[in-house]
Amino acid sequence: MRTTVGIIGAGPAGLLLARLLHNAGIDSVVLESRDRGYVEQRQRAGILEQGTADVLRAAGAGERLDREGLRHDGIELRYDRRRHRVDFPALTGGRSVTVYAQTEVCKDLIALQLKEGGPLLFEAEALAVEGADTDHPRVRFRHDGREDVLDCAYVVGCDGFWGIARTAIPAELTRVFERTYPFGWLGILADVPPSHDELVYARHDRGFALLSMRSPSVSRLYLQVPEGTDAEAWSDDEIWAELERRFETDDDWTLERGPITQKSVTPMRSYVHEPMRHGRLFLAGDAAHIVPPTGAKGLNLAVGDVVTFARALVHQRETGSAELLDAYSRTCLRRVWQAERFSYDMTTLLHRVPGATPFEERLQMARLERIASSRAAETDLAEGYTGFPFG
Ligand code: FAD
Ligand code: DHB
Repeated sequence: MRTTVGIIGAGPAGLLLARLLHNAGIDSVVLESRDRGYVEQRQRAGILEQGTADVLRAAGAGERLDREGLRHDGIELRYDRRRHRVDFPALTGGRSVTVYAQTEVCKDLIALQLKEGGPLLFEAEALAVEGADTDHPRVRFRHDGREDVLDCAYVVGCDGFWGIARTAIPAELTRVFERTYPFGWLGILADVPPSHDELVYARHDRGFALLSMRSPSVSRLYLQVPEGTDAEAWSDDEIWAELERRFETDDDWTLERGPITQKSVTPMRSYVHEPMRHGRLFLAGDAAHIVPPTGAKGLNLAVGDVVTFARALVHQRETGSAELLDAYSRTCLRRVWQAERFSYDMTTLLHRVPGATPFEERLQMARLERIASSRAAETDLAEGYTGFPFG
């Protein structure tokens, strides 16, 4: 098999890249190790930055997003039983975010790809990228019980944190920056209308809690839990009782309970792999970097990477110049590090860190007070949340 761009992974990064290339008249093949149902049901991100929603629309994947996505003009910070709303458009010159689940983004892009795009092979597992530093990189993969080779002009590893693309970059050329956190998030989906019309990020002495949503009738909620927690160790009643405690306010706000349809635990990690390119192999999305979910940045970073790659390849086609491809890693990493910083700040602002000293806890409250009382501090949060510019 032969193609211009071999794409490993059909998460948001790989699927959007295939669409952007198709729209630019560049052919690609997408290899995805899982089946379609798995990719379409995997519960993950929920928040699209304004720039991400704009890219999806421009790519022709905005129809259902515009119909079903929920525009959000702010979030609430909750601490010390008090509530503070951050108004995004007022602080950022009109920017907002959209609540539209990653599962739905993937469904829309898969449908478009199967209807109009190049091959998208499910249950096709990439085994290795070979010849990354030659003019003829290849992906060895297994599909239908057979091993095959995809010959490419470029390979883009969009295969997530556990993928194999990264391993084709020699260790002596690589630097990894990493931080793990001694807690995770227990996430639930519940068939109950969200108890607030915007997201609520709550700092509590018992730990962080987040109220989000998937639609006007489905709530998505998260609880900070110790690292290594088993989701099944929490009964539904225990989850609701803990959420109620952490969201409690001095006014008459209440949390509506409903049937829990899914629960799982996500570990928290910050991770950056530098560089994001080696020869004709490019890394995009979680394959190159992970952020803790507190800032809702992971999916949005993946989108920024593939937009940068597609632009660079189109530039090379149109002008013959590889300058943007050569700058790919540098361009992406500038935005990646801003998102790493923002996600780290949001995580340490809102979580209860085991072993934190009373001094550090007072500082955490002072940071929250600063955001609630200074337009400059609040603007910094709003700019970070609604998104840093691509490239
Ligand atoms: P992935 O979505 O991980 O896709 C990689 C794909 O590659 C997968 O389909 C995988 O099956 C496939 N693959 C792996 N290995 C191979 C192989 N060898 N061969 C072929 N295919 C392979 N981000 C946000 O922006 N906003 C949020 O609100 C948010 N909330 C989150 C909440 C949770 C609970 C979690 C877990 C994550 C959240 N994120 C959020 C992060 C976001 O989900 C990820 O950053 C995003 O999925 C990255 O997309 P990706 O395409 O790079 O990788
Ligand atoms: C969701 C996830 C996040 O990490 C976040 O910061 C906001 C919302 C969600 O899944 O809805």
